[in-house]
Order: sequence, then C-alpha cells, then structure tokens
Amino acid sequence: AITKIKARQILDSRGIPTVEVDLYTNKGMYRASVPSGASTGMYEAVEMRDGEKGKYLGKGVSKAVKIVNEKISEALIGMDPVLQSQIDQAMMGLDKTENKAELGANAMLAVSIAACKAGAAEKEVPLYKHIADLSGKSNPILPVPAITVISGGKHAGNNLAVQEIMILPVGASNFEEAMQMGCETYHHLKAIILEKNGSNGCNVGDDGGFAPNISSIEEGLDLVREAIDRAGYTGRVKLAIDVAATDFCMGKKYDLDFKAPNKSGQNFKTGEDMVEMYTQLCKEYPVVSIEQPFDKDDWEHTKLFTSLGICQVVGDDLLMSNPKRIERAIHESTCNALLLKVNQVGTVTEAIEVVKQAKTAHWGVIISHRSGETEDSFIADLAVGLATGQIKAGAPCRGERLAKYNQLLRIEEELGAEATYSGENWRQQ
Ligand code: PGA
Ligand code: ZN
Repeated sequence: AITKIKARQILDSRGIPTVEVDLYTNKGMYRASVPSGASTGMYEAVEMRDGEKGKYLGKGVSKAVKIVNEKISEALIGMDPVLQSQIDQAMMGLDKTENKAELGANAMLAVSIAACKAGAAEKEVPLYKHIADLSGKSNPILPVPAITVISGGKHAGNNLAVQEIMILPVGASNFEEAMQMGCETYHHLKAIILEKNGSNGCNVGDDGGFAPNISSIEEGLDLVREAIDRAGYTGRVKLAIDVAATDFCMGKKYDLDFKAPNKSGQNFKTGEDMVEMYTQLCKEYPVVSIEQPFDKDDWEHTKLFTSLGICQVVGDDLLMSNPKRIERAIHESTCNALLLKVNQVGTVTEAIEVVKQAKTAHWGVIISHRSGETEDSFIADLAVGLATGQIKAGAPCRGERLAKYNQLLRIEEELGAEATYSGENWRQQ
C-alpha cells in the first residue's frame, strides 16, 4: 500500500522549476518528475505555475507541490499501487475542471508516474511489463527512435523556421544498432557542419540537435543526407521533420522567415504552397514522416496533405493528446499519427487510453519527450510497454535525452532473445 507521498520542486533541462514526487510503499520509494514544452496549447491539461513574478519569472511550482503533499497525498495513502486506474480516478475525482486546472496536470502526472513505478515493483515485474499489463497488451516492442539532429523553430536561436529534423534508423536490426547508426550519423553531421558553417554551427538547441545558421529546410536536409551517406547508412536511415508550423502561422499564411532579423516578407506561404513544398521534400529526400505541417487549427490543409498518402502525418498541437480532438481527426481523416506527450494528458491511465484510441484507428503512435525534460526515463518504458513502435526523445546529446535512450538499451538487454525492434514496421499499423 502507498504509505507516504512527498513532492518537491526540482529543475528541468531549461532551468525551469518542475514537480518531482517520491512515493513510498511498504516495498520502497519510487520517484518521478514531469517535463514541460516550449509552447502550450489551450486544449491540453494545465500545468500549475505559481505566477509569482519575483521568483523564477513566475514559473515556480510550489503550489503544485503543496497540492501533492496535502490534497493528493491524503486521498491516495493506503491505496494499492498496482491499481493504476483507481489511483488516477481518485485524483481526477478531486478536480472538477475538464483540463486539470484545479490540481495541476504537473502535480497529477508526477504522482501517477511514481505510482506506476511502485505498481511494477509491487508485482516484481519490469515497468514496461506492468504498463503492458495495464493496457492489456503482452508483446513489448522496442521503438524506432526519432533522433533529433537539427534544431530550429522555438528550440534554437538560428533562423530556421522548422523546429526539428530527425533521423529514423528503420533499417537497424535492433535498438542498440539503431542508436549506433543514429550516433554515428550525428557525429558525421557535426563534422560536416563544422566544415560548412564553422564551429558556431555546432551549438545545440533545447533537444540537443545542432543549430547551424541555415534558413531553409532544404539546406538542413542536404546536411543530414550527406551525414547519412558518409556514415554509410544510405537507405537504412530515413528522415522525419517536425515543422511545428503553429509557431509561424500568421493569419492564414505561413511565415518561413519568422525568425529572420531582416524579414523581406517574401517567404509567406499559403496552405497550398506548403502542401506543394512537403510533396517536393518527400520526393527529393527520404522523408517518411512530417509532424505538425500546418497550424494547430488548420484541419483543412492537414487533411488535404494526408489524403495524398505520401508520408506519415503526425498531429502534435493539432491533437494536443486530447481525446476529443483525436476523435475528430480520426473521423475526418485529418492526420494518420498521434504524438503522445504524457504531460498534455495528465495521468498514465488516460495516456494508455489515447494510445489505444489512435491504434484502433490504425494510426502510427509516437511517444514523445518535451523540450524541457528531466532525467526521468518513464517514457522509454511506456513506449515499449504500449508497443507504439516509435519514440521521440531528442538528440544523442544532453543527459535528459540520453536518460530515455539508455533506458531503452537496458530494456533491450533485459528482454534478450525476446526483444523485438519495430524497425521497418515502425508505423505498427
Ligand atoms: P515541445 O516540443 O516540448 O517544446 O512542445 C516537442 C515537439 O514539438 O514535439
Ligand atoms: Zn512537435
């Protein structure tokens, strides 16, 4: 049974406060902390922040910590940590809002994840196995990592509008080899950027991707393609883009120069222009997945692009991991993959539910980190346990990103001969 819950304020990878929880049972202490994104939308569960201007620019989480230590703790003490949905339901019962504004999704998620870890320990099974049990699945699968190699958008200080270029080592035979291919490509990329853009180009963004001062997506894709070729993985490593287009949608137009100091205004694109651009990119480069290609509310162009059937079309802020928005997107065939950010949902139980919802529609599912992360590696076990086939956890750089990839290496080792890597079957449809 849960005997004690203690929360504290710690810091995320951007030096911004976040919630950490130590949950005690008769078996031991189980710790979890929560991530945070660069941009938050109005349809996702709400992070509770203090708003006290003189402290951490208003971003402290002492109120959320207090809620865990008092309200949540009082409700959960004595409960069996194995019963994840009852624990999550008990927390939801304390919050009368639809978006967890009363308790704070950061408070709830930290407790929910800590309880999940305690539940696994109670059953004496690995965390991914416990998660698989909770979802009713039995075959854990090691995901293809979407490894960030170039950062732009709101995650980096260069002029590149697009937020991320990622590499997908789908041709690896196991997860360990996928990481080897990913890291070697990353190192070749560094050498190429050093030659072409000088050492400043090798500075990294929030997720650890290089942030050379390039201004077009094609320039970035050329660099990465050359790195894949030099590493000797042509054909075995595919490309993915997170456009994060919501960040540069102005009215009905997309401003590909939104970060340029001397904006000429000539790089404004219509939704149709963007569809045309993506179609070309998928023809010219081995791009197999495009995330958030349009504004969060541009259902029309997202659907139009998806209907062409060219690549995986991933809904990030379009969906905000929100079951109602996912339902609409399934119904209208708006996109064909879900980016699942656990902190947009708020509890483990609901995260499992939305993943099921997407899988039932034969969508791809990517378990995702946030740009502000901690050393908690929970999402690695979540991706394996739910057999999503894909995970997005940044570059092979910065400890909070490696925490996830290294945990996946451990899981693969532990599974031994039973380990399956999703590889070419990454969309798991
Ligand atoms: P965020 O970025 O955590 O800043 O939202 C991640 C993503 O866009 O996929
Ligand atoms: Zn995104």
